[in-house]
Amino acid sequence: VTRKFFVGGNWKCNGTKQSIQELCEAFNAGKNIDSSQVEVVVAPPAPYAMLTRSILRQDFGVALQNCWVGKPGAFTGEVAAEMIKDIGLDYVILGHSERRHLPEIKENDDLVARKTKYAIDKGLTVILCVGELLEEREAGRTREVNERQLAAVKARLDPADWSKVVIAYEPVWAIGTGKVATAAQAQEAHAEIRSWLHRQVSETCASQTRILYGGSVTPENCVELATQPDVDGFLVGGASLKPTFLDIVRTHE
Ligand code: G3H
Repeated sequence: VTRKFFVGGNWKCNGTKQSIQELCEAFNAGKNIDSSQVEVVVAPPAPYAMLTRSILRQDFGVALQNCWVGKPGAFTGEVAAEMIKDIGLDYVILGHSERRHLPEIKENDDLVARKTKYAIDKGLTVILCVGELLEEREAGRTREVNERQLAAVKARLDPADWSKVVIAYEPVWAIGTGKVATAAQAQEAHAEIRSWLHRQVSETCASQTRILYGGSVTPENCVELATQPDVDGFLVGGASLKPTFLDIVRTHE
């Protein structure tokens, strides 16, 4: 089975025109990145998406970090999937734990699932984030939480839609904390997710879907994580805001 390694950089709500220009220039100068071997996608804040697309190397994709659940219209403050396509982007991150859990946002499983279906129908690839809270891990509920979040999506998708999904397993306790999951913890969760895909969708879906790890990934800790058989890449937050993000991109070599 060959699953193309995938590295996403989620810039979250960070950056200025100047800092993004500098970061893109650093990425553009990066050598020894073989786009036949690794798919790289960065996700700027929405106001900088067109700037990023216009200055970033063409072998890197650009994503938004969220989108509206349906067609454009009277939805003040929202950005529709159609608009993401219209400005030449092919990806959107959905279900990020910050959007699921921040009290100001609180997206539920079904909203994430409906957004996923709509975005795929409009031609986007969805980077779908799942993962457990610390208290859920400590209660031994990691698998149950991941499967509940995935089941909500399955209920909205047609089986063929899964070819447009990249799953990011992001344990919430590891995000932005410096507390990276061990390689064994990541592998266990990824294998459980792949097994769920096999049972609930299809063998093809299980063997072809990329499952990324996210949560305090750095150029230092990514090497061991990347050796795990079910870790097909990373979704990187803080460490994607530095030129050394490219060292994480190169871990597939
Ligand atoms: O989407 C990215 C994740 O939330 C990871 O963020 O690398 O800053 O921990 P982090």
